[in-house]
Amino acid sequence: MYNQYMMRHTTPIIIAHRGASGYLPEHSLAAKALAHAMGADFLEQDVVLTKDGVAIVLHDIYLETTTDVRLCFPGRAREDGRFYALDFTLDEIRQLRLHERSKHNEDGVEVVVYPNRFPLVPGTCSIPTLLEEIDFISGLDRSRNKRTGLYVELKAPDWHLRQGYKIAETVMGILNQTGYSKRQDQVFLQCFHDKTLQYLHSTLKTELPLIQLIADNSWGEDGDVDYNHLRSAKGLDTVAEYANGIGPWINQIYGGKDSSGQPIINTLVEDAHARGLQVHPYTFRRDELPDGIADFDELMDVFVNDAGVDGLFTDFPDLAYAFLSS
Ligand code: G3P
Ligand code: CA
Repeated sequence: MYNQYMMRHTTPIIIAHRGASGYLPEHSLAAKALAHAMGADFLEQDVVLTKDGVAIVLHDIYLETTTDVRLCFPGRAREDGRFYALDFTLDEIRQLRLHERSKHNEDGVEVVVYPNRFPLVPGTCSIPTLLEEIDFISGLDRSRNKRTGLYVELKAPDWHLRQGYKIAETVMGILNQTGYSKRQDQVFLQCFHDKTLQYLHSTLKTELPLIQLIADNSWGEDGDVDYNHLRSAKGLDTVAEYANGIGPWINQIYGGKDSSGQPIINTLVEDAHARGLQVHPYTFRRDELPDGIADFDELMDVFVNDAGVDGLFTDFPDLAYAFLSS
């Protein structure tokens, strides 16, 4: 499939990954406002559902990695110790406060995942619904005279279905309600689960461009997807039948430096382009650079000028904007 909305952009699009998440807690509306001001072309929404079937903007299907759910609702974890968003109503989720992404270190102390980012302090931000976030971005577009895009990821659709929830229908309902389902130049839909993208394309017949995310098979992403196959010639042939682009991990394009210091770049970008597929890799981080890359500008240089990608997910949209503007 190839249409006017899939033409390669001459300048790669900047997708603010969970907002300007290098500076503020991910998926807070504050992080979205900052990314909007920093010149991002698209703002990312990872979407999961609540117990009462409301689409909320949250990266994990769990709540404890970015909120104070343990304090607010002790005893509400499942047997695996996780607090699933799907076990909480929207009213309950509204009581939670977002904080910087955290983990427990070897001493059992809760610490931030990225030490030089926003500190782990009690937050003032809450989890937005998808509808609230769309209204928020639309309002910013109006006040700043912009036309910023949505880049919506359906999280774990196969898992949601096994729990009795249809996330694709819920998301499409909101995009229909807000008029965004007709804005092919302003919305991308992304998913790791190939069958969900095929369902969006063939059954729900969305007109919106679809991006097949590509994980590493070892990550245990949702559903039974062979990402090594998806990256192969035959796999990309199939992806091109239902999607408009791919979203690979940066290390699936770049493989370090050779003995003369030159970046090793494989053929994935050109293989995708040969099939009319855009390429939007993830995730460009100043504080998590791939092997052999000295700084953010070099990361941009390798992927934009050497590999020729069409867009990029970044936690630091200001740095991407500065590079592309220079
Ligand atoms: O959606 C692109 C990228 O965000 C995929 O990784 O885990 O950050 O959603 P993740
Ligand atoms: Ca995502």
